[in-house]
Amino acid sequence: MSAPRPGYDLDAWRRRIPLLARCIPMNNCSQTPQTDATRAAAERYLESWNSAGMDWDAWMNEVHLAKAEFAALINATADDIAVFSSVSDATSAVASALDFTAGRATVLVSEAEFPTVAHVWLAQERRGANIRWATVRDGVIDPAEYDTRIDERTAVVSACHAYYQNGLIQDIGRIAARARASGALSFVDAYQSLGAVPVDVRALGVDFLASGNLKFLMGIPGVAFLYVRPELVESLRPAATGWFGRLNPFAFDTKTLDWSPTASRFDSGTPPIMNAYVARAGMEIINTVGPVKIRAWHEHLARRLIDGGRERGLTLHGTDEIARKTAVTAFVVRDSHAVEAAMRARGVLPSARGDVLRLAPHFYNSMDDVDTALDVLADVVGSA
Ligand SMILES: Cc1ncc(COP(=O)(O)O)c(C=O)c1O
Repeated sequence: MSAPRPGYDLDAWRRRIPLLARCIPMNNCSQTPQTDATRAAAERYLESWNSAGMDWDAWMNEVHLAKAEFAALINATADDIAVFSSVSDATSAVASALDFTAGRATVLVSEAEFPTVAHVWLAQERRGANIRWATVRDGVIDPAEYDTRIDERTAVVSACHAYYQNGLIQDIGRIAARARASGALSFVDAYQSLGAVPVDVRALGVDFLASGNLKFLMGIPGVAFLYVRPELVESLRPAATGWFGRLNPFAFDTKTLDWSPTASRFDSGTPPIMNAYVARAGMEIINTVGPVKIRAWHEHLARRLIDGGRERGLTLHGTDEIARKTAVTAFVVRDSHAVEAAMRARGVLPSARGDVLRLAPHFYNSMDDVDTALDVLADVVGSA
């Protein structure tokens, strides 16, 4: 059987990532490397700032184009998207639009949420929310957890699409449908899936979906996007707001709190302009390569990581079912940060999290990258 190949020109993409000349980035669940395109985008902003002093219209247009690029990734439109500096801010804005004293007080939060998302929901307790948990057991969440825990008191279900610790993919369509059927909303943190797994918000039927850009979207910190289901927008008034949430931010009317008719009512202050430049360029790469092709290659890489880890005596964390996980593959190690440092010294960038060491390849990684990373990991932990 011939070796699997991605459905795009792997070598051409690799040439656009300077870091590959020095090391093997396998920490894409944490921070993806710089590309020629993202660097050029940052320079475009610097050049505009330097030559024009201020070019507000062009900068605002760039933020709009970044929203449009995010929208294209998830089958939405730019009007369905709000921009933030972080997923934490986006989650807080959503929470601030909900009323937990009007009959539905339960927030069902998955234990697989990145802590920041759970923290935002926990902070709603003083606004009347009751937090309940969908339990992680052996690194996975049984989908039936949601079936039994969602009821007529549930206001919102917060379920990440992919678990940051080991790449477990949750059946978001099923969870959103279950929430909708009992009159609850669904909030999805897709930070660990966007760019790695195709996402169609309309097909999934989710109400909110948030992501930042520095992981599989090839971007940088300091910018995040929120999708709000358009049918819902009119009914929501986030208490966390600002002038960019207005009908016309440039009306400068101090005493009128009107609301943009689109998801931009969730925008607040001056958007992260330079970060939006880079974010758009990163998402353009993902949209060009194509999430379907990326996912297909990730499945091969994940299979190699799981089988190769087993052959080398490494202990997998979470499921070994490729269909239920992203390419992020976690191995249980004794001191993950020491293992990460030792691997870095040998030219492989992994990502430590608690008691696991994550190897997270992306579309530009080769099978050789995976094999080398596994060899180095096995050597460092002494299981080879
Ligand atoms: C799934 C997930 N959600 C949220 C975050 C953090 O979000 P932010 O720092 O943008 O609030 C991370 C990682 O940084 C993550 O992996």
